[in-house]
Amino acid sequence: MMMKDKILQKDRKYLWHPFSQLKTASDPIVINSAKEEMLYDLDGNQYIDLISSWWVNTHGHCRDELIESVFRQSKKLEQVLFAGFTHKPAVDLAEKLVKFTPKNLSRVFFSDNGSTSVEIAMKVAIQYWYNKGQKKNKFVAFKGGYHGDTFGAMSVGKTSGFYEPFEEMLSQTFFISYPDEWRGNNQLLQNEMKAIDETNKIIKQEKDNIAAVILEPLVQGASGMKICRKEFLSKIVKIFKEAGIIVIFDEVLTGFGRTGKLFATDHLKISPDIMCLAKSLTGGFIPLAATIFSEEIHSHFVDQDFKKTFLHGHTFSANPVSCSVALCSLELFEKDKTLQKIKSIAQIHSNYLSELSKNSNISKTRMIGSIAAFNYDLVPDTYGSADSLKLKKKFLENGLLLRPIGNTIYFMPPYCIKEKNLKNSYEKLIEILQ
Ligand SMILES: Cc1ncc(COP(=O)(O)O)c(C=O)c1O
Repeated sequence: MMMKDKILQKDRKYLWHPFSQLKTASDPIVINSAKEEMLYDLDGNQYIDLISSWWVNTHGHCRDELIESVFRQSKKLEQVLFAGFTHKPAVDLAEKLVKFTPKNLSRVFFSDNGSTSVEIAMKVAIQYWYNKGQKKNKFVAFKGGYHGDTFGAMSVGKTSGFYEPFEEMLSQTFFISYPDEWRGNNQLLQNEMKAIDETNKIIKQEKDNIAAVILEPLVQGASGMKICRKEFLSKIVKIFKEAGIIVIFDEVLTGFGRTGKLFATDHLKISPDIMCLAKSLTGGFIPLAATIFSEEIHSHFVDQDFKKTFLHGHTFSANPVSCSVALCSLELFEKDKTLQKIKSIAQIHSNYLSELSKNSNISKTRMIGSIAAFNYDLVPDTYGSADSLKLKKKFLENGLLLRPIGNTIYFMPPYCIKEKNLKNSYEKLIEILQ
């Protein structure tokens, strides 16, 4: 039996894949190796990774410097518990994150993935009020927002429509409409006004019960790369801040250059009180997440009373190897002048979105930084529809790793992508959609 068949046989027998229905899914592709923006399968086919392997890969696959940092750190200290112990990679990374994030953020709590970084933000927000002697345990979020698949994260992301079986277990969240922007949207300002009215109403009625507002700043990823204006976001944040409500930015997707600046918050003059980072924190190499807090929030957990402690932890919190890779990835941002590279990617996106918008089946072209998206109206806007799976298959047959979300097709390549490969991918896509 061929190696590929053996792997697939075992895969079918033993594995349970995320967001996948075994009954209808076709065989997964057996990936054997990767380099830069390319993935190679066992049959010798190659794919351009146009979605950065679920939005994590920044500097390209198997980057030598990142490999070396894993190797170097693994030989020295591979893991140690992070309660009662510390180490240089963790303190250096925390210092760097504090330096690069807004001035008011000064305390880093490490965990392993986007969902845990959100869960920690939500728990800290609730306990912050508890430690101050107040009961505030409800949240505000945006319709369509996605924050992960743990219970807290599901509660603030329940309008994504993924969580029906768990509905009764989810805590109460107030949802605001999300006014998304695309080229030619002439309803945008009215939609923004509607969202602001809804915000004011929620605050007026529920202010004393609300622990925090959580949002994906500038881009809602999982709901289909929906972009909002920074002017709108600033207004919303200001309203919540003036009402004394904690503002959480979930930058799990938008962090590390996706929007053209290191963080989405860098587009604004106003800062969140808590920021969640994961995905690209290690350049997409190994799991690590960080939730970063203002000193005001942290100060209410520092007390002689043990009950005020944040009694939360993860086995692999601040794993030394993960922290080393994250440090190395941040250095690469400087060494490679990555933000400059993103500008070139954005220029290519912009040119091709103009080209694509000539196709009458394409609507709502939109982009920010390294992310470009549009709707393909011949496919229904439902998650995992047969048409959208067919389209995904067609892209793969043409060597393009693209994963439509409903009828949204988007590009979010690693920043190392060669201009030629990005342009060829767009040319192929245009051909396929025609
Ligand atoms: C904005 C946002 N928050 C949180 C998460 C959850 O991250 P993870 O899948 O690492 O748990 C995601 C994942 O896509 C995300 O896009």
